[in-house]
Amino acid sequence: MSGKNVCVLYGGRSLERDVSLSTGHRVIRALEARGYAVTPIDVDETLVQRLLDIKPAGVFIAMHGKGGEDGTVQELLEILRIPYTGSDVLSSIRAMDKVLAKHILEAAGIPTPAFYAFNDAAFREMGAKDTLDLIAAELGLPVVVKPAAQGSALGINFAAEARDLPRAMVSALSFDRKVLLERFVAGRELAVSVIDDGAPRVLPIVEAKPRSGHAFYDTESRYTAGETDFTVPAELAPEVTEQVEQVALGTFEALGCRGFARVDIILDEAGVPWVLELNTIPGLTETSTMPLAAEAAGLSFEDLVAVIMESAFR
Ligand SMILES: Nc1ncnc2c1ncn2[C@@H]1O[C@H](COP(=O)(O)OP(=O)(O)O)[C@@H](O)[C@H]1O
Ligand SMILES: [Mg+2]
Repeated sequence: MSGKNVCVLYGGRSLERDVSLSTGHRVIRALEARGYAVTPIDVDETLVQRLLDIKPAGVFIAMHGKGGEDGTVQELLEILRIPYTGSDVLSSIRAMDKVLAKHILEAAGIPTPAFYAFNDAAFREMGAKDTLDLIAAELGLPVVVKPAAQGSALGINFAAEARDLPRAMVSALSFDRKVLLERFVAGRELAVSVIDDGAPRVLPIVEAKPRSGHAFYDTESRYTAGETDFTVPAELAPEVTEQVEQVALGTFEALGCRGFARVDIILDEAGVPWVLELNTIPGLTETSTMPLAAEAAGLSFEDLVAVIMESAFR
């Protein structure tokens, strides 16, 4: 029993508030069961004052999306000198921006689908819409269009034809000022969780298969029990498993992550693991993949949460 006085930050105002509430509630219960003295904080404009009053030994950040996962709350905790779970400010910024992350992965030689990206100013001020046919020709159809910074499959569209691109762009631009156009990769959807209990290591690979009726692993199929079939460990040849693990660890290291993370990968027919993104604060809900991966590694949910919490103090 640790008895440490910790705060769990959850909720907040991001579009992923509901997911964060689910993650947060479970984390609070797990930490309490492990003997931590937990103060839950649903994040709002009183956050800094409350932290100054409580003076916790550490903070578990159970927030997803903007504010919690993009370096903002991490920056505040740095200023307050309070240890926190997960990646630092710079790594959070890198991973939250899918475009930046993909440039870093390319430079590190890690496979990530071919892409182009631009912000709304390129449209408004430079006529970027006239590149869309070229982009479709270059990337092939369908083109995946997504906001640079978002999660939970929000704002993602698949443009089947070049003429569908403008509408997909407008939709993605309603979530973020920067939009990513990415080559579609057909294949198996893998989630690879990494934890750091001294040195980073991968947990068993989870394969997610959305039930029919869902075009892809979308928001609804993610957070509704029974809408997705999970296989863990994923049925892969040993050499493929090894390669996927290397790519996931390479991604964690290239982005400079800490504590824990989940790497989303599509494994194509040829066995190439294409990295879509890394989540610095993966969901820990009842239907999330990281707890499943931990369980397959012999770690209970409480064990997992305790490992993540303790990583804040190293
Ligand atoms: N390039 C792609 N090719 C095929 N499917 C994709 C591609 N990009 C995204 N998807 C689908 O959309 C889902 C969400 O994409 P992802 O990049 O992981 O964003 P999010 O932050 O919303 O999770 C993926 O899990 C996958 O099912
Ligand atoms: Mg994802």
